[in-house]
Amino acid sequence: MNTPQHVAIIMDGNGRWAKQRGQTRTSGHRKGVEAVREAVRSAGKLGVKYLTLFAFSSENWRRPEDEVNDLMGLLKFFIRRDLAELHREKVRVRIIGDRISLKPDILSLLTEAEDLTKDNDALELIIAFNYGGRDDILRAARTIACRVADGEIRTDEITEATLVAALDTRDIPDPDLIIRTSGEQRLSNFLLWQAAYAELVFMPCLWPDFNHDTFVEALQIYQGRDRRYGNIGEADMALGS
Ligand code: IPE
Ligand code: IPE
Ligand code: MG
Repeated sequence: MNTPQHVAIIMDGNGRWAKQRGQTRTSGHRKGVEAVREAVRSAGKLGVKYLTLFAFSSENWRRPEDEVNDLMGLLKFFIRRDLAELHREKVRVRIIGDRISLKPDILSLLTEAEDLTKDNDALELIIAFNYGGRDDILRAARTIACRVADGEIRTDEITEATLVAALDTRDIPDPDLIIRTSGEQRLSNFLLWQAAYAELVFMPCLWPDFNHDTFVEALQIYQGRDRRYGNIGEADMALGS
């Protein structure tokens, strides 16, 4: 079975899930955390090596303050509750996104999770928090500009590899598969550079309903895709020109 090495998920639909039940958006986000737990377990079972979860975008600050606070609180809740188990299961936790505007208590919790699990190698769980693809590229551009200003490299020495090494995702292979739940068909500023050749799979289910079976279904759709990277297909290649 051709299992994608890196799966990234845009976890969308918590609000609609709650609305359908006449519940508050908060309860949708809470249920969403349980789906995160299940997705991490499934990824491990399915042999995925890197799982990136889009938990809070750089644009999600536009939401009402109460909801933003809820989402921050739920990240803390998830790490506090699940960190020991993740560590036991040999999961390495990494965070991508801009850390500057995060409160010190969240920041120290995230650093603690990264430090504790840094030598684990069963699965890499990458949490995209306060993450935006444009912001990632912008910060990388600033890093490179500083290196040039310091005389470390010349502008004509800047390659794709220089930029890749300056992104939050350095040392993480590009996602093979990006799943978005809730039926929306857009990237919403997720992994813009890294998604260049990712297969996109849009699932109708709302994030709180995402489970092992949905994960398997998404992988099956991925397995039916022909990844060409600008080349001609394998079948055509075998036929010759
Ligand atoms: C995803 O669910 C969670 C985050 C974006 C943090 P939403 O909150 O976007 O749910 P919908 O899209 O309103 O249903
Ligand atoms: C994308 O979902 C961000 C996360 C899943 C964290 P949104 O719900 O914020 O995206 P839009 O606003 O519908 O594009
Ligand atoms: Mg949404």
